[in-house]
Amino acid sequence: MSPLSPLPASWARRGGIPRGSGYGGQQEQGYSEERSSARRVADHYSARSNQTLQERESSPIIHLKKLNNWIKSVLIQLYARPGHCVLDLACGKGGDLIKWDKAKVGYYVGVDIAEGSIKDCMIRYNGDTDQQRRKKFSFPARLLCIDCYEARLDEYLCEDAPFDICSCQYKTLLLCSAEGLEFGNSVYWISFGEEYAEKKFPASRPFGIKYKVHLEDAVDCPEWVVPFHLFKLLAEEYDLELVLMKNFHEFVHEYLQKPEFTELIWRLGALGDGRQDQSTLSQDEWEVSYLYLAFVLRKPGQPSTQRRADNANMFLTEGDIEFLGI
Ligand SMILES: C[S@@+](CC[C@H](N)C(=O)[O-])C[C@H]1O[C@@H](n2cnc3c(N)ncnc32)[C@H](O)[C@@H]1O
Repeated sequence: MSPLSPLPASWARRGGIPRGSGYGGQQEQGYSEERSSARRVADHYSARSNQTLQERESSPIIHLKKLNNWIKSVLIQLYARPGHCVLDLACGKGGDLIKWDKAKVGYYVGVDIAEGSIKDCMIRYNGDTDQQRRKKFSFPARLLCIDCYEARLDEYLCEDAPFDICSCQYKTLLLCSAEGLEFGNSVYWISFGEEYAEKKFPASRPFGIKYKVHLEDAVDCPEWVVPFHLFKLLAEEYDLELVLMKNFHEFVHEYLQKPEFTELIWRLGALGDGRQDQSTLSQDEWEVSYLYLAFVLRKPGQPSTQRRADNANMFLTEGDIEFLGI
């Protein structure tokens, strides 16, 4: 539903970059840089411990987190159907498991590069988190610790495929309106390297432009620009049509009109609770949310009727997590 920023780097290695991209001699060096960036991303997310409810509530971006959760819930409610087979790319600590459960999905495969996060996801799936002991989830699951840009997911997941939904709740930032090489506010900053001082990103090399992003209490990692019109063209090569694309401001304005989703946003507390609690997004959080993009791609065709839960369990141990090439 929302793609990963660095995807194009792997497309480049598979020849997905337009001809004459000029990667040539720089490829080896670029590759090892990518590997260490991937490691940094994995270490960053692995090191993030599960927060207590109190720690979470005192986060400077708590309302932004709640807004993100609301947007993810709305997307899942709009598109997931009972029995669906779900591939959650970059599933992290399984923050969306409850949402998938509410949608009554039939099978869940979670994939993430960060070992610590995937183990937390397993704990959450088993219902063993300290914060709340909850009833078990109603769907079987399979978890893989894997770098999505490196691994042949199609091979690893061939027995589970095709999936009804592939969800990628990472983030895509709209950087087209950026002014200067560095910009931000009290909760985030984004910085491009000096090499982009003139901001002339070569047309022959549209992917691979790296920037650093920092979001208080959440992200401190390198990410990569994705020219969305090219991403859309690549998606079309795979018969994927764009059916929804909205930055978070547009998304909020549209879906807040719908009573079923208004009630949910009050319940999650992203904009207060609709009554006494007036705590809401700060101006700076709202400004960050403008940079985020939600989109949905659909592959036309008949839904699959085959159910595939052979690899999956209703209770997972660390031995069940598949660590592949990390
Ligand atoms: C912002 S978190 C989102 C986690 C989860 N989807 C959620 O919404 O709660 C981004 C996740 O992407 C994962 N990630 C980043 N690069 C990845 C890669 N190359 N392969 C797999 N996972 C990756 C990180 O480890 C992290 O857990």
